[in-house]
Amino acid sequence: FLLKQNPLKIVLTGFMGAGKTTTAERLSLLLEGELDVLDLDLVITEKEDRTISEIFSESGEAYFRNLEKEFLSTLLDQPKSMIISAGGGTILQDNIVELIHEKGGLIVLLDVEEETVLSRIASTSSRPLLAVSDVENTQDKVHRLLNERNPAYHMAADLVIDANQDVELRAKALLQAFE
Ligand code: S3P
Repeated sequence: FLLKQNPLKIVLTGFMGAGKTTTAERLSLLLEGELDVLDLDLVITEKEDRTISEIFSESGEAYFRNLEKEFLSTLLDQPKSMIISAGGGTILQDNIVELIHEKGGLIVLLDVEEETVLSRIASTSSRPLLAVSDVENTQDKVHRLLNERNPAYHMAADLVIDANQDVELRAKALLQAFE
């Protein structure tokens, strides 16, 4: 069973709108709080006291990416079982898959289709990468980025979960995978 791997460190990855945060929270509920739930975007915004959009516009994406790597590494160093919902771009960085594995983390991909992403992304204001520009609307961005990223997501994944299903089924699929 899942909790026999001690400590168990799950890093949830997948595109924006895959449901990383909600899946992590529901899994923790199913396990009655035996896994600490950590949200990497939240850790970053709390430490910086700025929104993701502010960090991107004021300090640039590279600065944000460094923070992601640094904080993910620190979280994984804690000697306890945890599920970390990473950001949609976290595991795409150089050497980060190796870093996660070295620290005993397991990468779980929430695999999602374009239609599902579009139906779940109600607001893009908190997601600078999906903001509408002069040349590309949100739908085009989702299409392009998802296709660009999918090979890397699948290469990195230790386990793939169908994330087009609803949150209850996603969390149960994750649970069953470790049973
Ligand atoms: C990003 C995804 C976001 C956030 C940032 C960049 C990405 O997280 O980290 O806007 O590169 O895909 P969510 O996937 O939780 O929206």
